[in-house]
Amino acid sequence: STQHPFYDEARPAGIKTPQQRYAVYMTFDLAQGALRSDLQVLLARWTAAIAQLMKGAPIGQVDSVRPGAIGQDTGEAAGLDAASLTVTVGLGPGLFDERFGLSSKKPALLADLPALPSDNLVAASSGGDLSLQACADDPQVAYHAVRNLARMVRGTATTRWAVLGFGRASAGKGQETPRNLLGFKDGTRNLRSDADYDEFVWVDDASEQAWLRGGTYQVVRKISMNIEVWDADPINDQQSIFGRTKNVGAPLTGHGEFDTPNFHSRNATGKTVIPADSHVALAAHENNGGVKIMRRGYNYTEGINGFGQLDAGLLFIAYMSTPQHFVTLQSKLGASDRLNEYISHIGSGLFAVPPAPKSGHYIGEQLF
Ligand code: HEM
Repeated sequence: STQHPFYDEARPAGIKTPQQRYAVYMTFDLAQGALRSDLQVLLARWTAAIAQLMKGAPIGQVDSVRPGAIGQDTGEAAGLDAASLTVTVGLGPGLFDERFGLSSKKPALLADLPALPSDNLVAASSGGDLSLQACADDPQVAYHAVRNLARMVRGTATTRWAVLGFGRASAGKGQETPRNLLGFKDGTRNLRSDADYDEFVWVDDASEQAWLRGGTYQVVRKISMNIEVWDADPINDQQSIFGRTKNVGAPLTGHGEFDTPNFHSRNATGKTVIPADSHVALAAHENNGGVKIMRRGYNYTEGINGFGQLDAGLLFIAYMSTPQHFVTLQSKLGASDRLNEYISHIGSGLFAVPPAPKSGHYIGEQLF
């Protein structure tokens, strides 16, 4: 089993890390009356616990020496190994206020995302003062991590919303492209190169808050899918919605999955072969002034909705050096993407991810 390093890394865990198969994503609000020192203790305890969990170790005794005592670790990961676990901590806009004396540390870009076209957001799956993204190749390991991290800060932070993700819906360097629940390969043209990470993912700008340099922004969207309607749509229509073939995942102007799409090539009727309102034509960097984001999403399901239909979709998680890049892309997608007939953005969050902690220090310590 793989163990990922946590302390003293150039970058925070769980972003460039080859994407694991499962995720548990949860956000929290700081309890009313929580103090600056409570926030410090929370971050310090989370840091120490994450270091243990990523080694595949419990966060404390499972079996109590005294039969009357409460176990420190809840125990369901006993006997399982690290399973590639990474835990990524995000800090939401709400932390940076007077309560914690952090107003002067707020990154200018860390504000709630603006209203975007086609938004259908519900409060019950949006926002949060803190986020945890736990990814692992064993869902029980990811769940155990978040459950125990939530448990140890009860009283200081309350849970807000959570999504359990499976079947990674994007690919990183060296990974075979997986498929989303619409049956298409997802992640083919995801951001991968070191140069692109430096330019589009890591915050390095001298104009940014010093504590965030070496970190990044996390944009999360819970996007539900109208699966029954999609499944009744003919393949050629589905392909023109994405601008790619379903089986191979090739751009409609090519043959192989990794052929470069040609957004200018036209057919006999004068229309572009990759429709201008297709998902890839609207999202591609060639058509967005060069903007790229790093996608690290997961499929999710929450069973069946009140109408007897599959309640499932994409937990879209993306990392970028400025949230403005998401706003640029989603402003266009939300307004024109033909995919909108089949999807609905129901949850949203924006978080700043501090750099990886140095050993002996905790995540976000530079804030205080
Ligand atoms: C590409 C699916 C939402 C940004 C793709 C591809 C698929 C896909 C199948 C083509 C393969 C690839 O290059 O990865 C979906 C689904 C979504 C969704 C099912 C919602 C349920 C979004 C959102 C954004 C986004 C919300 C950003 C605001 C991109 C980008 C590309 C892409 C940047 C690469 C385009 C290119 O360079 O060719 N998506 N996507 N997607 N998507 Fe999405």
